[in-house]
Amino acid sequence: MNAQDLVAVAQEHGSPVYVYDAQRIISQYERLESAFAKAKNLRIHYAVKALSNISILKLFKQLGAGLDTVSVQEVKLGLAAGVDPKKIIYTPNGVSLEEIEQVAALGVQINIDNLSILEQFGSKHPDVPVCVRINPHVMAGGNANISVGHIDSKFGISIHQIPHLLRIVKNTGMRVNGIHMHTGSDILDIGVFLYASEILFETAAKFDDLEFIDFGSGFKVPYKEGDVSTDIEELGEQLTERFNTFCKEYGKDLTIAFEPGKFLVSESGYFLTKVNVVKQTTSTVFAGVDSGFNHLIRPMLYGSYHKIENVSNPDGRKRYYSVVGYICETDTFGNNRQIAEVTEGDILAFSNAGAYCFSMASNYNSRYRPAEILWYNGESHVIRKRETMDDILRNQVEVSLSIEQEV
Ligand SMILES: Cc1ncc(COP(=O)(O)O)c(C=O)c1O
Repeated sequence: MNAQDLVAVAQEHGSPVYVYDAQRIISQYERLESAFAKAKNLRIHYAVKALSNISILKLFKQLGAGLDTVSVQEVKLGLAAGVDPKKIIYTPNGVSLEEIEQVAALGVQINIDNLSILEQFGSKHPDVPVCVRINPHVMAGGNANISVGHIDSKFGISIHQIPHLLRIVKNTGMRVNGIHMHTGSDILDIGVFLYASEILFETAAKFDDLEFIDFGSGFKVPYKEGDVSTDIEELGEQLTERFNTFCKEYGKDLTIAFEPGKFLVSESGYFLTKVNVVKQTTSTVFAGVDSGFNHLIRPMLYGSYHKIENVSNPDGRKRYYSVVGYICETDTFGNNRQIAEVTEGDILAFSNAGAYCFSMASNYNSRYRPAEILWYNGESHVIRKRETMDDILRNQVEVSLSIEQEV
């Protein structure tokens, strides 16, 4: 999408608004598929948490993808989008046995990441095959909060606990049909990924009944010019070759699975905001927009970088701005950014707004969550309406207490 398209969307649908370029999602999906084309059986489970709008899930269904889910609600969304439960994997962390049983009853592939629940689930449902999430203890990922495979992480079953895991499998008579890892997001070095994969192969060889190995995700996408990203083609080449060799040794053509979120949707998204105020202080010029961390929390949550462009004055003289929101706490989207000259009323577009942006939005400050637009072939389709006061009040219950006051 170019600057004109983005301005047109903001004019038609108002601001703030999220817009996703469907073609970009399709091309990323196809890129991933072709990187692993040499694998006999490939399954791409799109990580629903990244962007969970039902129309996005339907698009992935059309592309042939499965889904990676972390809650029973995400599973139900996927089913509502018409995705075959057999193509959905459920990888929760710290949820109750009851929720896992509820999801299993829907026919979805269960992935269990702790021995306590594994033992309880296996004892009650030995006939339901499960995948196990292994923690390979590899430090990967761009930020401590998204780096989940290291030794002190709460995720996965430690590789040092495999003997205990095997004992549980034997004692309960359950079947492990998949092995999984997810070491973290924003992995720069494919060497680290391949190293963790070796640990996974070693572990997989200890299970007799596997159907698939799921290598999770963590593929890094670029956020600014010159940014390093995961070399997916090289990873595809090297990992597929190694996987095919493993399958030969294992004696079975397993499925190679991944569950990317960011890689598939991050770059498709733009968050469009309008500049409410340009405010000069003694040290900077603030561009204050009609949004805040209620709509886009990633910069404040874990310091993510989103390129910000003035799409209504793209050729203007470059000046330095601090782009901030309207929340009554510090909510800086970008500090000291060079942006084409900004005047009040201009539309600023935030890039990489497809993954973990709308899906983390809230009603903080009782603001409406923005509309979402899907852009395809030059046309915009509303896939979520902007909220209204009814949405803010929905589920609120008015109670008037009869307070006894001393006069
Ligand atoms: C288990 C699991 N799989 C997949 C993903 C998707 O990761 P990414 O968006 O970095 O591709 C995540 C992200 O948190 C995850 O926790």
